[in-house]
Amino acid sequence: MKIAPSFLSCDFSKFGEELVRMEKAGADWVHLDVMDGHFVPNITFGATVIKWGRPYTKLPFDAHLMISEPHRYIKDFADAGADIITIHVECDSDIDETLDLINSFGIKAGLSVKPNTPAEAVFPYIDKLYMVLVMTVEPGFGGQSFMADMLPKVKQIKDFAKSRGKDIIVEADGGINENTIGDCKQAGIDVCVSGTGVFKAESAEIAIQNLR
Ligand code: DX5
Ligand code: ZN
Repeated sequence: MKIAPSFLSCDFSKFGEELVRMEKAGADWVHLDVMDGHFVPNITFGATVIKWGRPYTKLPFDAHLMISEPHRYIKDFADAGADIITIHVECDSDIDETLDLINSFGIKAGLSVKPNTPAEAVFPYIDKLYMVLVMTVEPGFGGQSFMADMLPKVKQIKDFAKSRGKDIIVEADGGINENTIGDCKQAGIDVCVSGTGVFKAESAEIAIQNLR
């Protein structure tokens, strides 16, 4: 299982150092939460900030776009050095067109479902996807409680992908810590995002080891 610290909880006055710190602490991916204050009731950062961070680490950049019109900005995130770009199935852009655009840049495409969206919502797009991101909190903020009732979505998604002869990665995001990661593992999650669980710990290295 991969661990992807969510930089939503990092100290952005030293973003570069935080990237180096997480790589040294054993992170597998860098999870970057982009919010537009419209798709979710919070604003974070965009492609420019991601570009500033890119030289500090070779770890894959996993950009989670919680924005209403991702299609307009895919090129910016591609140019900024994102390795995986995940959009929400609930967004206002055309999903097929946006996934095609991501894939056209040679970037891995992800599709995410909010807690109230059924797993079936991603099925029509499965052939275009590298990853499905199952939200285990309502997107918008770090530090919320894990919703264990989202986990059955993982098997539904993996079973459907398998029936299409496809292996798919499933990522879970929100409320993952030492107490909840066991359920994620059991459910077959491949990548666990953890924000406050890693960044608010005294030692990120120990926190990541404990999650593993
Ligand atoms: C929520 C974000 C998450 C969040 C996770 O909208 O997508 O990545 O930062 O934070 P924790 O681990 O604190 O729930
Ligand atoms: Zn996220």
